[in-house]
Amino acid sequence: MWRLGGRRIRTPRRPAVGLRPASTAAAAAAVSSCRAVVLPRFGGPEVLEVRPAVSVPDLKPRDVLVRARAVSINPLDLRMRSGYGRSIFGPLLPLILGRDVSGEVAAAGASVSSLVVGQEVFGALHPTAVRGTYADYVVLSEDELTPKPPSVTHVEASAIPFAALTAWRALKSTAQITNGQRLLVLGGGGAVGLAAIQLAVAAGCSVSATCGSQSIERVLAVGAEQAIDYTAEDIEVAIKGQFDAVLDTIGIPETERTGINLLKKGGHYMTLQGETASLADNYGLVIGIPAATAILLKKQLQYRYSHGIEYWWTYMRADAEGLDEIRRLSGAGKLKIPVEKTFSIAEVRKAHEMKDKRIIPGKVVLEVN
Ligand SMILES: NC(=O)c1ccc[n+]([C@@H]2O[C@H](COP(=O)([O-])OP(=O)(O)OC[C@H]3O[C@@H](n4cnc5c(N)ncnc54)[C@H](OP(=O)(O)O)[C@@H]3O)[C@@H](O)[C@H]2O)c1
Repeated sequence: MWRLGGRRIRTPRRPAVGLRPASTAAAAAAVSSCRAVVLPRFGGPEVLEVRPAVSVPDLKPRDVLVRARAVSINPLDLRMRSGYGRSIFGPLLPLILGRDVSGEVAAAGASVSSLVVGQEVFGALHPTAVRGTYADYVVLSEDELTPKPPSVTHVEASAIPFAALTAWRALKSTAQITNGQRLLVLGGGGAVGLAAIQLAVAAGCSVSATCGSQSIERVLAVGAEQAIDYTAEDIEVAIKGQFDAVLDTIGIPETERTGINLLKKGGHYMTLQGETASLADNYGLVIGIPAATAILLKKQLQYRYSHGIEYWWTYMRADAEGLDEIRRLSGAGKLKIPVEKTFSIAEVRKAHEMKDKRIIPGKVVLEVN
């Protein structure tokens, strides 16, 4: 379920305190404000404002200040900008969008033990973080970051963690996939789908995936045994046998029906399109959250009774073990999310507009220089 994980964006300027003393920490300690892309109200790309001096919060003991070099655009950023989650985020405006970051540690809180100033890192914030990553300096907690492999560029690294942690949560925490099992990814051509295929293959599973015709080669190249073009084939006819787990990145009634029908008894159907935020937006937090819980429970009971399967809404969550595996696999070249195009962070409106209009199909990264 949704949990508020953010910080308010404040305006007062003062030196950051509680920073670990280190050679470059003195410079970082002077970072009390920085350039950031601010969302003052919900709307189209035009509402995004690149502001030169947005306050950087004080570091808590386990916080790390990261000098961002690249931040990627996730569908959640576009949806939040348009008002998705407004029941949660509306009272917290202005926000900073962005979940993923790759950069260097500029300063560390007093209890941080695994990272040092100057180290190259990448990681992702929780979906409800209020101060996101579209900024020169980003604050994450230590367990939301991991060392960036030298073989991976900042641009490449920034495309990975939010999508891969979303896939990790579903596959490892919810379905608990193991060696030899079969996974079906509905919508395998996007970032979460590609990450899921690669994580499952690394865990010894065999994977089938549906995707658009332009994604077939990409899906096969990352290790899927079968890629089915959802625009040209009847998925339930094209796919043979049944699966231990289905990850549905699309989450429409048609894909839900297909996924449920293709599961073994005791298998897990997981959709990324849980209704908690939209119900809270439509009916308010007080009615929307309990309504979402009731709908989820009803579906869980219904599918357990009718098909003998487990039904889940699954959400991204920070996971230190998952991030460690994501670092290991990306360093070994076994976990990649192709980056379609980069923009400078100053061009954020243009980048959002091109994603909104679906002019660029794949991952877009903002370079922070
Ligand atoms: N619950 C969570 O915590 C969470 C976390 C991350 C993402 N999400 C959500 O999950 C979705 C995927 O995220 P993402 O980062 O992977 O987005 P993405 O990289 O933009 O990928 C979306 C992909 O879905 C594919 N697609 C669209 N309609 C399809 C269909 N009917 N059947 C098969 N494939 C279809 C498209 O691939 P083709 O080009 O192959 O058609 C598209 O590239 C988004 O809606 C996002 O908001 C949820």
